[in-house]
Amino acid sequence: MLRSDTCGELRMSDVQKNVVLSGWVQRSRDLGGMTFIDLRDRYGITQLAFNMDTNSKLCLEARKLGREYVIQVSGQVIERQSKNSKMQTGDVEVVVNTLQVLNSSKTPPFTIEENTDGGEELRMEYRYLDLRRFPVQNNLFLRNKVALETRKYMDSKGFMDVETPVLIKSTPEGARDFVVPSRMNEGQFYALPQSPQTFKQLLMVSGIDRYYQIVKCFRDEDLRADRQPEFTQIDCEMSFVEQEDILQTFEGMVKHLFSSILNVSFENSFPRITYQEAMERFGSDKPDMRFAMEFVDISKETQGKGFGVLDNSEIVLSINVQGAASYSRKKIDKLIDWVKRPQIGAKGMIYLKYNEDGSFKSSVDKFYDSEALQKWAEKAQMKKGDLLLVLSGDKAQTQKQLCELRLHVAQENGLRNPKEFKPVWVVDFPLLEWEEENKRWHAMHHPFTSPKQEDLELLESSPGSVRANAYDLAVNGVELGGGSIRIHDRSLQEKMFELLGFSDQEAKEQFGFLMNAFEYGAPPHGGIAFGLDRLVATMGGSESIRDYIPFPKNNSGRDVMIEAPSALSSEQLDELNLSISKIKK
Ligand code: AMO
Repeated sequence: MLRSDTCGELRMSDVQKNVVLSGWVQRSRDLGGMTFIDLRDRYGITQLAFNMDTNSKLCLEARKLGREYVIQVSGQVIERQSKNSKMQTGDVEVVVNTLQVLNSSKTPPFTIEENTDGGEELRMEYRYLDLRRFPVQNNLFLRNKVALETRKYMDSKGFMDVETPVLIKSTPEGARDFVVPSRMNEGQFYALPQSPQTFKQLLMVSGIDRYYQIVKCFRDEDLRADRQPEFTQIDCEMSFVEQEDILQTFEGMVKHLFSSILNVSFENSFPRITYQEAMERFGSDKPDMRFAMEFVDISKETQGKGFGVLDNSEIVLSINVQGAASYSRKKIDKLIDWVKRPQIGAKGMIYLKYNEDGSFKSSVDKFYDSEALQKWAEKAQMKKGDLLLVLSGDKAQTQKQLCELRLHVAQENGLRNPKEFKPVWVVDFPLLEWEEENKRWHAMHHPFTSPKQEDLELLESSPGSVRANAYDLAVNGVELGGGSIRIHDRSLQEKMFELLGFSDQEAKEQFGFLMNAFEYGAPPHGGIAFGLDRLVATMGGSESIRDYIPFPKNNSGRDVMIEAPSALSSEQLDELNLSISKIKK
């Protein structure tokens, strides 16, 4: 070993010990007769001291060391004169006897310290340097712990880790596939899995019974803070189960992760709400339950009073912001501008203040007298000092816009505490969604999701109202996982394909292998997949998964460090029998 100790472990009990340390030069300070160097490795920082009076040659050598040089030193641990309580090793320092430069370094493009001066893109380009920083390394440690504890839990419950292929056939899961040309099968392509969905179902047919895998998935979709083109799932499937068994098993997993890693315990079972309730109360199928501010439908109280904007709206929805009647006109105008931004798309926002003196002030005083406004206030259970924010229009759009506004106001008021965790199961998702653009039904989860037994009779008469045995787990407004009980019966599966507009031929081409397998005794089965990146980011208190992925891609799906994607040489293209027709700018 090129060291006797790490840079994070020396304490007062080590005083007088002779040690050998290796690491990176984070910083050096020359204070007249002394030179101090902060030596860093994965475990921490230790201060090295070089004394001009007692060893001027060595001290001069130390002064030549640049940032990020890799060095090895030997020396003696002594108690520090001025201790640094912020550092774990801050009570001691090492007086250096020998110094060896193991490698030099160019000046790094940004400072490699707790707080850095590097912009995000630059840090992504030099990700290997950014990863030297403790905050980034801590995120990877957390990820490692989550993966490790997941494996422990799954193993304790009898789940078997089975790998599934990465070069597969397209799975219809909503997003676009990344595809890989096959050299040996001219003109044909593999797809990278959006998830191992069909394989885990095949494993159930194989009798594996309890499967899990921590696995890379690939989706060619527009990116956001919580979406990457390649991401990792904790993918799971079980046989001979009903929805309740899955919810119990995986609530257990999430509780285990939070308690073993963060020491956070959830006393009670996670609350459950139906999809419909989630949409009506929060305008979202992944509601943030850390605060209330639930939607109040005030259509009845507001419509039919001659105010065209509201009269012509499908719905009038409001949220009561407690204690916010004191908001200034300027602050409210800012909120109005905020909802009108194209990303939110509201046409405007109405407000109602219930002043401390009992009077009302609203932006629509002209149309509503105080008796009418009193009715709104009653419906929204406003108290003196509260502020009601109102959006109206098409139902689905208004729900979406008010959901954004609710989150925004909560953020502004510090109600989204990243250290507080509020899980919720959202159940009874609709089986199908209507795609207006293509005028067809589309599976909300995926085509293998089973309808609720009691809704089966509606499959033909009213497909849109059929509920599925499908569920999501949301924590703090983030969808951490989702799954369903699958169809295991071939005839029901065929009916589903028919509803989804697949011809027999298309169904056979795409899923023939699964349908065939279902003819050989498929057990009842179901499963769930968690987004590992989202789980870790949420546990770490962040909304961005990028910081928790060792080598993430930027918003354009590029890895700016290795410069991927990149063009292929004409030889490679020829070998694959591919040609690039034109590049759209
Ligand atoms: P679903 O598509 O809901 O289900 O995905 C499961 C979970 O994966 C995470 N996730 C993502 N994380 C980061 N970037 C992305 N682009 C991304 N897309 C999804 C989310 C999500 O909840 N096969 C089914 C699961 C099943 O039915 O068992 C599936 O993939 O946290």
